[in-house]
Amino acid sequence: MHTITLRLKTARSRIVVGGGVYGRLGALLREEGMDGPFLVVSQPRIAAAVDMPRLRIGHVALVPDGERAKTLRTVERLLDRMLELGMTRQSTVIALGGGVVGDVAGFAGSVFLRGVSVVQVPTTLLAQVDSSVGGKTGVNHRRGKNLIGSFHQPRLVVTDPGLLATLPDRDYRSGLYETLKYGVIRDRVLFRILESRAEAVAARDPALIEELVRRSVAIKARVVAADEREGDLRRILNFGHTIGHAIETALGYRAVRHGEAVGHGMIGAARIASGMGLLDDAERSRIEAAIGSIGKLPAISRLSSEALLEAMRHDKKVRGGRLHFVLPERIGAVTMRADVPVRLVRSVLRGLGAA
Ligand SMILES: NC(=O)c1ccc[n+]([C@@H]2O[C@H](COP(=O)([O-])OP(=O)(O)OC[C@H]3O[C@@H](n4cnc5c(N)ncnc54)[C@H](O)[C@@H]3O)[C@@H](O)[C@H]2O)c1
Ligand SMILES: [Zn+2]
Repeated sequence: MHTITLRLKTARSRIVVGGGVYGRLGALLREEGMDGPFLVVSQPRIAAAVDMPRLRIGHVALVPDGERAKTLRTVERLLDRMLELGMTRQSTVIALGGGVVGDVAGFAGSVFLRGVSVVQVPTTLLAQVDSSVGGKTGVNHRRGKNLIGSFHQPRLVVTDPGLLATLPDRDYRSGLYETLKYGVIRDRVLFRILESRAEAVAARDPALIEELVRRSVAIKARVVAADEREGDLRRILNFGHTIGHAIETALGYRAVRHGEAVGHGMIGAARIASGMGLLDDAERSRIEAAIGSIGKLPAISRLSSEALLEAMRHDKKVRGGRLHFVLPERIGAVTMRADVPVRLVRSVLRGLGAA
């Protein structure tokens, strides 16, 4: 078991990573001095996959399966339930699931009685390496994804890579793209593991997954500690996301997984970096090969490069109308640029397969 403590100005988050820690959740809550009543929020499919009844921790609220659970309506239902249960400022909300459950339960916890303790128990690779750490919570609005939300740090994150055994293959691979992102932005060793041990990674070797998760969480925690509210530094975590978000928006969230869109986006960013003379060709092809070794990305030939450019211009992260890109200078180091010529972006999008 490995503990990372994320210290922030107004909060402290303890992140515990290790095979088997899920079974120790009750003990970990007591160690943190957390009181009931507890409300465990999950989704039917996940609750079955991870044998939730075994936890015997508190009340359970199941929200619908899938991204469609991420609405204000779900939040309202959770708040109703918390009031019915007589939960107080001292109560705790436990999010048991992937990014969807983490975001919606985290948001409900952040507004209930102006904020109660939240515990994240991530069950997807994406949630383990990314969404469970950092305190971003929220729901979708019909005008767009993640438009309503808050920053609310979880007090405890209990990350058990063993929970990933039942994850569908496509979701597992989707998380691997996001894991590779940390390698490119900050960690050559992590990159090297994914590059050279693709078979063991695909076979979900438990010790290997644990190391990947531990390294990713350490990077995310360090970046968030230095920049809690997404100033400049935290934006390096958006490597691959400028193009990735545009692909998600244009294709629709059902057709493509977040990680897959980021996979395309990382290839695009590497090619842009190389087109601008920031990244040499050998490193660019290593990045592309490592992404390719995770699996085949879904085709984006249905999309036009113009539609993607348009989606990028509407991204909520755009500042002053300029497209921002996180670009690798070598594996393990990135830089932020707002001066990428639109011509170059367009030709890279076409190279990725857009029309
Ligand atoms: N807050 C953040 O910082 C942050 C960061 C990145 C993404 N997100 C959000 O995360 C969401 C995506 O998260 P996700 O990729 O984890 O998707 P998800 O939560 O929808 O889970 C993916 C699928 O895996 C299933 N599943 C989950 N755990 C399982 C398990 N252990 N065994 C079997 N099946 C399991 C789920 O039922 C679901 O069908 C998006 O809504 C995105 O906006 C948030
Ligand atoms: Zn992401």
